[in-house]
Amino acid sequence: MTVFVTGGAGFIGSNFIFYMFDQHPDYRIVCIDSLTYAGNLSTLASVMDNPNFRFAKISITDKDMVDKIFAEEHPDMVINFAAESHVDRSIENPSIFLETNIIGTQILMDACRKYGVKRFHQVSTDEVYGDLPLDRPDMFFTETTPLHTSSPYSSSKAGADLLVLAYYRTYNLPVSISRCSNNYGPYQFPEKLIPLMVINTLEDKSLPVYGTGENVRDWLYVEDHCKAIDLIIHNGKIGEVYNIGGHNEMRNIDIVKMIIKAIGKDESLIKYVEDRKGHDQRYAIDPAKIYNELGWIPETKFKDGIQKTIQWYLDNRSWWGEIISGEYRDYYDKMYSGRLS
Ligand code: NAD
Ligand code: DAU
Repeated sequence: MTVFVTGGAGFIGSNFIFYMFDQHPDYRIVCIDSLTYAGNLSTLASVMDNPNFRFAKISITDKDMVDKIFAEEHPDMVINFAAESHVDRSIENPSIFLETNIIGTQILMDACRKYGVKRFHQVSTDEVYGDLPLDRPDMFFTETTPLHTSSPYSSSKAGADLLVLAYYRTYNLPVSISRCSNNYGPYQFPEKLIPLMVINTLEDKSLPVYGTGENVRDWLYVEDHCKAIDLIIHNGKIGEVYNIGGHNEMRNIDIVKMIIKAIGKDESLIKYVEDRKGHDQRYAIDPAKIYNELGWIPETKFKDGIQKTIQWYLDNRSWWGEIISGEYRDYYDKMYSGRLS
């Protein structure tokens, strides 16, 4: 079995590669990643020498190179994690989001049609459903909730989802889609809420909380996401969408306070800053379908997962130290200087 993992040098893709080698050591895994600012080859150091692993520095928007690697490897499955993934960056510069997230997905699926695959799996997001009101805790996203996006990022992901379903209906491409809630865990790029707050707390820097901090996200430990995708690509139905989420809703401000307490610092580090434009209020997944059909349930409780994650950032300062001293520093200054000054 040869599996292409696109975006495998990023946060979830790399964790998925580790999970797959653990579960299916005999599979051949080819990681296709263009190594944008969010991709980090050092993350994959532990699998680089595995004879069943190949890394290919290719953009999914490069049709010729995508064709070439399909011709060389003839994958059985393609799992598409590659994306521009950060909402704030999409507000600053939408173009690259449409290019990578929509056109890149189309180029991959065209190659899948040309060479034939058993499965093309699209890793999507709960953000395609838009948001839920804060005062309706009874409401959840199901797979039939209408798409209703807020940001250029979520719109590009929704566009890709529609294209994937169109390739199923029009060309019979054997596809599946998963829409997961917010992930956290090792190797998450420090632009995202949890690693940003952990690192700033460790460094005694201000903690920029957008708006009132009352926005709610449904947090899932990354390994539980990987397990769900593994189940879907092997046992999930072709042409179907599966929501993934752990019924673990938390307000941003509560997460930030939890991190401060765990690290032993003071809440005076918190700074309420200008809100994100179009900021989604609340995400909450109803995971009944994946539970009923595939028996998936999340295994890691938030209180354990957040401890493990904080410990990982404490133990891997060199991984994030390199990131925050490079291009990311310019991004951070640009995004936060107006807000924090
Ligand atoms: P990430 O930003 O950490 O990693 C993205 C990876 O894709 C990087 O390695 C980057 O180099 C690579 N990439 C970007 N453009 C590429 C291109 N043109 N060609 C090849 N590779 C390219 O993202 P992540 O958080 O790991 O998210 C992975 C996927 O999961 C995304 O599709 C995202 O929409 C989805 N998702 C993320 C979350 C979350 O909480 N992080 C939740 C649900 C779904
Ligand atoms: O729900 C799934 C999505 O989760 C994925 O599709 C995205 O790829 C992923 O980035 C994530 O999107 P969010 O926008 O929810 O994640 P982020 O970590 O950027 O922000 C989480 C919440 O924290 C959000 O309400 C904004 C807030 N926030 C974020 C940052 C970076 C702050 O208050 N301060 C910050 O500095």
